[in-house]
Amino acid sequence: MEYRTISVEGSQFGDEGKGKITDYIASKANVVCRYQGGNNAGHSIEIDGVRHALRSLPSGIYEPGVMNVIANGVVVNPFALLDEIDENFAGNPDRLKLAISDRAHLILPYHILLDGCYEGAMGKNKIGTTHRGIGPCYSDKAKRIGIRMGDLLDPDYLKERLENALAINNRILSAFGEKPVDIDELYSRLLSAAERLRPFITDTSVLLDEAIDAGKKVVFEGAQGSLLDLDHGTYPFVTSSSPTSVSIPVNAGVAPYKVKKVLAIMKSYMTRVGEGPMPSEQDNAWGQSIRERGNEYGTVTKRPRRVGYLDLALLGYTSRITGVTDLAVTLFDVLMGVDDLKICVGYSLDGKLIDYVPASAKTYAHCKPVYKSFETIPFFDKTKIKTFDDLPREAKEYLGFIKDTLHADIALLSLGAERTDTVSFKPLF
Ligand code: IMP
Repeated sequence: MEYRTISVEGSQFGDEGKGKITDYIASKANVVCRYQGGNNAGHSIEIDGVRHALRSLPSGIYEPGVMNVIANGVVVNPFALLDEIDENFAGNPDRLKLAISDRAHLILPYHILLDGCYEGAMGKNKIGTTHRGIGPCYSDKAKRIGIRMGDLLDPDYLKERLENALAINNRILSAFGEKPVDIDELYSRLLSAAERLRPFITDTSVLLDEAIDAGKKVVFEGAQGSLLDLDHGTYPFVTSSSPTSVSIPVNAGVAPYKVKKVLAIMKSYMTRVGEGPMPSEQDNAWGQSIRERGNEYGTVTKRPRRVGYLDLALLGYTSRITGVTDLAVTLFDVLMGVDDLKICVGYSLDGKLIDYVPASAKTYAHCKPVYKSFETIPFFDKTKIKTFDDLPREAKEYLGFIKDTLHADIALLSLGAERTDTVSFKPLF
């Protein structure tokens, strides 16, 4: 049977505009599923001129009729999720179509404290995390002392799990000079949260599988970006999950052959927040002007993003690893009228030319970008762009080079923040 599934993932360092593209695709989908990460993600979507910031809720949440799934691979801060639900659906709880996996792990207050302790202890070598407790929560999952959504539904078992987790985590907090977490207080807060979350908690793997087998259109929405992948990213400057198509089977509980298409969302230039190597970074007037034009400030943390020239060596690496079939190029309007346009096509490392991302972040930091120059893309009327051929010659050259280098079709081109600013060159389902 023909499965109508698509993985939508960031192919750089996150913040590629995934929320907006997923929102666009969600309007044509039946199910949207987040499968990794947590409220470190900041997805902003703009509807009728109003900007909505989503953190844990999937991007189909505003689409009537779309089921939104938070799968087992996501880490969920239950208190932050309830705040997000209240912010977005206060007057309209019936409009919320949400299912949360009973296997998803909970981010609890001690994870957030530990995130700060670890970053502080590393000093100048810190990762530059979002301080949302992501790393400590995934660590507890691997240590087998995590607490899962389903545990909220069994008060006795929840108490037992909490005792376990705190027996270890309170000792670590004390070693850092932090006040231990009070179990009774946290337990009672969790019991209250459980009452509100109960209707959404279920085995989402069954729900997803049934939807896929029934031929429903299912979108798997990645958070962050491929270069922040725990295994394949610029370790240790990565997040603690795998934000790519290759992790969907384990993180959502669906068979690998049921994930059909891989749509890589790529910004027309590069940005990165937090520490870590970024060979084509432009910490200068060029970078600053793109930062302002593209409003390159974090949705969640408001941190200014580092900006650089588009890096196709890096994108080639991520497309190989994640099996990209199609591309969605975002923030292309930001490049209109920009002088000194370049694309990084490889790196010079100790006098040798390479076109991949080395395993060591230290080695990667020594890579010197090799560039190809492009002509300035003139300002054009974006409302006139219906097909690739409607674009000015300079734009076609820039985009054509991307397409040829990555051997993937440009399916979507985003020319602005509104839903109507996304041009489709190819149907995705
Ligand atoms: P953590 O995910 O909070 O542990 O942060 C680890 C690294 O991932 C840091 O460099 C963060 O800046 C980066 N990061 C996490 N989430 C996002 C995101 O949604 N967009 C961009 N970078 C992110």
